[in-house]
Amino acid sequence: MSKSTRPTIKAAIAGATGYAGRELISMLARHSQIELVGAFASRNTEAQPLAAIHPSLTGQTSLHCEPFDEAAVARLKPDVIFLATPNEFSMEVAPAMLETGAMVIDISGAYRLQDVSLYPRFYGFEHQHPELVKQAVYGLTEFARPQLKGAKLIANPGCYVTSILVPLTPLMNLIDAAQPIICDAKSGVTGAGKSPNAATHFVEVSESLKSYKLLYHQHTPEIAQGLGIANTLDKLIFTPHLLPISRGIFSTIYVRLKNGVTKQDVYAAWQQAFADAPCVRIFNGPQMPEIKFAAHTPFCDIGCVVDAASNQAVILSAEDNLLKGAASQALQNANVAFGFDEKDGVL
Ligand SMILES: NC(=O)c1ccc[n+]([C@@H]2O[C@H](COP(=O)([O-])OP(=O)(O)OC[C@H]3O[C@@H](n4cnc5c(N)ncnc54)[C@H](OP(=O)(O)O)[C@@H]3O)[C@@H](O)[C@H]2O)c1
Repeated sequence: MSKSTRPTIKAAIAGATGYAGRELISMLARHSQIELVGAFASRNTEAQPLAAIHPSLTGQTSLHCEPFDEAAVARLKPDVIFLATPNEFSMEVAPAMLETGAMVIDISGAYRLQDVSLYPRFYGFEHQHPELVKQAVYGLTEFARPQLKGAKLIANPGCYVTSILVPLTPLMNLIDAAQPIICDAKSGVTGAGKSPNAATHFVEVSESLKSYKLLYHQHTPEIAQGLGIANTLDKLIFTPHLLPISRGIFSTIYVRLKNGVTKQDVYAAWQQAFADAPCVRIFNGPQMPEIKFAAHTPFCDIGCVVDAASNQAVILSAEDNLLKGAASQALQNANVAFGFDEKDGVL
């Protein structure tokens, strides 16, 4: 059915010139019940057609991207505002965006950590709106559907975090809690956004593989929060790496299962958790998840092997950092929050 024959809500997006913003605009263009009415970049930019900024959007939208301005966003009377902007900017503007009466879905990390005392250490700033953090719904869609309905502020999860929480969350009762959880994760370079820097430009990244932010990446406390082990952060070892590809995340997760827990138990827990989850695909061998199956799709692909003698489980997951790790999950969240088909615009 076309947008004209179904009730339609209005969306605005800040961060429209960025990578996550581009993906979101592309998906909104094919959504049957959400109309994108406003697109914004930094405050000091010139207005330009979106298709001039992102040629891949040619023919998908005639909208212009405007310099960000709170009053201009408010005048559009959007029902939902997506913030695909840097952490500090999202933190600052979320209150004004909520005052417009819109639902706000923030793709940055600004409203994800319930313990706001962690922001200076992991994000480099003091949180200015701790009261709003308490109200934010953490939007890992597959586990948040009841809370998403009617939410005002949704904190979209981190890209690495999604690739780890999707497979691990249903398994927490099966895991030996005394043993460490080791997450070895690798991301394509779009994970760092569109602005090149000395660590991410082609020559530095090409034909190499490097770790970064060892032991202090901002997604470490978010993973611990999601797994309910924030008080035993030392049990979690998360190591991100930069892959010399443009998009995709691959995570290898090492956990020890409790005595007697089998590989069949792991898959049964996943089947139950994801029975109605259109964006999670379970691989049960011999084919296991790979970035090339998940890149450019909204899926998180998961698989597992278990050594019965040692109870060691190796869990694999793959996703597109810009989609399930950012924009498509944000749209899944909007769909659930407004009562639309979760797959609309997404799949
Ligand atoms: N990339 C990923 O894989 C990924 C995954 C999950 C979450 N995220 C998060 O999503 C957000 C966007 O990421 P991205 O990769 O799309 O970043 P990006 O490509 O660097 O784009 C950033 C966007 O924010 C805008 N912006 C920058 N500073 C601004 C300011 N002071 N005021 C208003 N707008 C401003 C930029 O506009 P201009 O063009 O005018 O500078 C641009 O549209 C970030 O918080 C990031 O951490 C990213």
